[in-house]
Amino acid sequence: MLPCDHRESPRIAAARAVLVLMATLSVAACQPAVAPEREPESVPVQNQADVVVARGEYLVNILACNDCHTPYQMTAEGPRPDMSRMLSGHPEALQMPSPPTLLEGPWLWVGAGSNTAFAGPWGVSYATNLTPDQNTGLGIWTEDLFRQAMRTGRHMGTSRPIMPPMPWPAYGQMTDDDLRAVWAYLRSVPALVNHVPEGMPAEPPAQAP
Ligand code: HEC
Repeated sequence: MLPCDHRESPRIAAARAVLVLMATLSVAACQPAVAPEREPESVPVQNQADVVVARGEYLVNILACNDCHTPYQMTAEGPRPDMSRMLSGHPEALQMPSPPTLLEGPWLWVGAGSNTAFAGPWGVSYATNLTPDQNTGLGIWTEDLFRQAMRTGRHMGTSRPIMPPMPWPAYGQMTDDDLRAVWAYLRSVPALVNHVPEGMPAEPPAQAP
């Protein structure tokens, strides 16, 4: 064989053929049977809004907003929030008499069976209508107002203190994203017309002369 002869011996050619076959097989073995679908470039805006509302629903459920803002009704399992009146607050038809006078502790406060009206040293408080109804719910509120109210514990973010047992000191610690999600969910629930009576803060104790 001449030094420059490029022809291969049959043995080398056979070995090369086997190597090529093995390489082809191993590549084929690495290929998934079906090509994976491409990830979408970004989540469509509509879906993003849905994700935020779903997060808000989850938070409202685990933070028990329905426990006070949805009137209880008696069921076979005991009192449960009546979800046909979801988040509509103290029922306007349930007029509460003046609260009983409690003796000096340790019983300090009372609540209605609906779990929507409460009386204690702070005065009388009624769970508000959190649905988006324009006149009786949070219709005119903005996300900013809501965040302010939760953070400061002030009615509509600026006026009188929000009374117990509304646990705003705990909710006010939510992240902005979580508060935004709760707000987005509250905007998405059915608007229910239910006029909740104004809360009545207790008179401040008379100043000593
Ligand atoms: C333990 C009972 C209770 C729970 C739980 C509760 N609330 Fe309240 N909430 C109240 C009461 C009572 C008031 C009325 C307070 C007042 O009039 O000062 C109120 C008032 C509010 C107000 C009106 C504040 C304002 O500025 O007038 C908003 C908004 C609100 N709650 C949202 C929520 C949200 C959202 C949740 C769940 C994350 C929740 N609440 C859970 C009892 C509760």
